Amino acid sequence: MLKGKIAGTGSYLPEKILTNADLEKIVDTSDEWITERTGIKERHVVENETTSDLALIAAERALESAKMTSDDIDLIIVATITPDMNFPSTACLLQDRLQTQNCMALDVSAACSGFIYGLHIANSLIATEEVHNAIIIGAETLTTITDYTDRNTCVLLGDGAGAVVLTPSKTDQGILSTFCGADGSKGELLKRHGGLSRQPIYKLGPYDFHNVFMYMDGKAIFKSAVQRMTSSLSKALEKAGKKLDDLDMVIPHQANIRIIEMVREFAKLRPDQVYVNLDRTGNTSAATIPVALDEALKQGKLKKGDILGITAFGGGLTYGAGVIKI
Ligand code: UT7
Repeated sequence: MLKGKIAGTGSYLPEKILTNADLEKIVDTSDEWITERTGIKERHVVENETTSDLALIAAERALESAKMTSDDIDLIIVATITPDMNFPSTACLLQDRLQTQNCMALDVSAACSGFIYGLHIANSLIATEEVHNAIIIGAETLTTITDYTDRNTCVLLGDGAGAVVLTPSKTDQGILSTFCGADGSKGELLKRHGGLSRQPIYKLGPYDFHNVFMYMDGKAIFKSAVQRMTSSLSKALEKAGKKLDDLDMVIPHQANIRIIEMVREFAKLRPDQVYVNLDRTGNTSAATIPVALDEALKQGKLKKGDILGITAFGGGLTYGAGVIKI
């Protein structure tokens, strides 16, 4: 069956950096706690930029590396839970800013698994020849929905965007499999609802203000994250006809170094076979995997022919994984 292959990648992290020392001045926390419990040292944060600003730079860089222009693209997917606005979608705003019109554009709301969901949709449309070239962007400005009085959550989050251009593959190179799933029964563990239809702005009381920020039950999420990320990777490997032994590298969603370490142990990989940038980026939700993928390719850590596994887990709850021959 026809499949997509990676034609180019790009990423962008905002200039401003928020360190653990900066956070020590805002909430009751310490560099020692954050480093030990999460592995994060600093994260990039937007000042005035929007999600589509970040997505635009990542998309332009990916198009340049694919040696394409926006006119070559017939599908734009933006994976985000922090869109510029409810509608138009960030993908439509991006389409306009990329100055192209002849394509479909949609947002995917699957939190930290959003990029893998986007890859799954784009690859399926390439397989049916409905779409030729697609660009999938994971872009987030999580710090715009972060409650900086909640030390449980605010130390984890950062902003960024990563993009991948997919084009039809005529060889064995490309996306060998993707797997996506969801468990809506656990949606309450990670959510942001204030100001939307469940609690419209006019129903927000003086003490409901925190509802406009992200809420996360970190401890409960942690357990599910490890279980779902490892089982999703197994399912994607099975679909691709590959085994754990075949993997040259895994790029896991960057949420917590302890989760990444457990995924690494499950996959029986050496530390250098698991790409980690969480210490510099924090958790950027849908952007973590495409940003890390762009970095790993540019640093020469991934080479042509390598078998890459990607796996993620996030709000929804959603989960997913993929196997890609670079
Ligand atoms: O992107 C996908 C979704 N997100 C995730 O995958 C995140 C998954 N969860 C996690 O990464 C971890 O559960 C956290 C980093 C959120 C929390 O780590 P933990 O080891 O599960 O800590 P905990 O929630 O059990 O808290 C332990 C203690 C508590 O104090 P007490 O009750 O034992 O006195 C917390 O109040 O650590 C305290 N604590 C902090 N202390 C200093 C919580 N946050 C902080 C903080 N600084 N920032």
